[in-house]
Amino acid sequence: MKSLCDITIFGGHGDLAFRKLMPALYHLSNDGYLDEESRIFIATRDAMTDEENADIVKAKLQEFLPEKDFDEEKFSYFKKQLHVVIIDFFNDESFAELKALLAMYPERDRINYLSTASDFFGPICKSLSKWELISPKSRVVLEKPIGRDLESSRVINVEVLKYFEESQIYRIDHYLGKDTVQNIMALRFSNRIFMPLWDASNIDHVQITVAESVGVEGRWGYYDDYGAMRDMVQNHLMQLLCLVAMEPPCSLEADSVRDEKVKVLRSLRFMTPADIEQKTVRAQYAKGASNGEPVPGYLEGEGVEESITETFAALRVDIDNWRWNGVPFYLRSGKRMSQRNSEIVIHFKGVPHSIFANKGKCISKNKLVISLQPKESIELKLMNKIPGLSEQMRLQQVELELNTPLNMEHKPSAYERLLLDVIRANPTLFMRLDEVEAAWRWADVILKGWAEDIVPMKSYSAGTDGPSAAVQLIARDDRSWHDE
Ligand code: BG6
Repeated sequence: MKSLCDITIFGGHGDLAFRKLMPALYHLSNDGYLDEESRIFIATRDAMTDEENADIVKAKLQEFLPEKDFDEEKFSYFKKQLHVVIIDFFNDESFAELKALLAMYPERDRINYLSTASDFFGPICKSLSKWELISPKSRVVLEKPIGRDLESSRVINVEVLKYFEESQIYRIDHYLGKDTVQNIMALRFSNRIFMPLWDASNIDHVQITVAESVGVEGRWGYYDDYGAMRDMVQNHLMQLLCLVAMEPPCSLEADSVRDEKVKVLRSLRFMTPADIEQKTVRAQYAKGASNGEPVPGYLEGEGVEESITETFAALRVDIDNWRWNGVPFYLRSGKRMSQRNSEIVIHFKGVPHSIFANKGKCISKNKLVISLQPKESIELKLMNKIPGLSEQMRLQQVELELNTPLNMEHKPSAYERLLLDVIRANPTLFMRLDEVEAAWRWADVILKGWAEDIVPMKSYSAGTDGPSAAVQLIARDDRSWHDE
């Protein structure tokens, strides 16, 4: 069904808008999800005409879309929906033009996508309200991270909530828009075989890795204020952890799913200073090599001599509830790692007694490997007899692999999924206020410990798998990272 709406993108010429939002809207528009009459307002500070804006958007689409996806004819269609509005967030008089444009169709659904630093969320919403641009059919999308800690996130949320109802607020975490991430729920809740196995009696521990080979990609100014914990762990990795750990929701309704996720977040064990020392690692990359090419360290070329921002974080997380009692979740995420690799590995316990040779040493424990990106697959590692006539039964590990065949010319991105959900007013894949707050409450304790230097900042060479301290973190518990 084609949706008719007006979408305003604040920060319309920002990095995220060009890399993710424009390509997503271009596809939604051309794939028939947006009505031809829908309008996309690109809010930017620099004065320019629609034609100049369209040229810029076109160049960026050509840069960020796969070559096969860009097409002149499709762009001409998309271009008819694009309009530029010149807005300076510090001068709310500049909202007058947007007012005039939106007033042409007062009955339409209005989507306000705030792709800006979260400090601007309150002021933008205030101006929207002052200019009477918020109707019951308005929605607002807030990009993560919202604030830098619980307190600042509260201030921002309180401000936004003065103008929008909670049901109109869509707090985005684009990991929830990835098909592979949504598939975690499908895997867990539509396959009975996992139901009796998914708990502390059968699972030894869980590992969640989100490794990137890229550095900060021209976003140093933003990144240095946030770091891996605020940029990745507090949101993306926490959402993955919630999907693995949550109880079955009673339906796929937004609040049923969010209720279960929030219970997990509230069960996270808060770390003591001793825990922070033992169970967390923070590190920053130094120069090294990526894809065989030398790459500079985090600080090099930025004109600064020192920064205490981590580009890598590893943690052991404990969940204090019945299902996960005694099952650690090991999390790690970093930039400039050896390869791009995001995966969740469920490590099952070993068999209680081995009847095979070598006192069972030849029996590897079962693992369920959920690869999220770049590979998308689910593998169950099982033991199997090596065929043949050997005197003693010999075993080997084999993989049962599930690869979903993709019969689509274009695989929708996470942002396409989520933008379409906002357009259709479906908030299931967005974070509710209490989720964001619970995640900050837990992360704040660690961030405070780091700010007090409880754990020294380590260094790792770009192009490696992080500092040796991350290996020690898990080795201390007699376990090791799944680094196949
Ligand atoms: C963003 C972070 O939310 O996610 C970036 O701000 C990070 O720093 C990106 O690179 C990773 O997303 P993806 O989809 O490429 O794994």
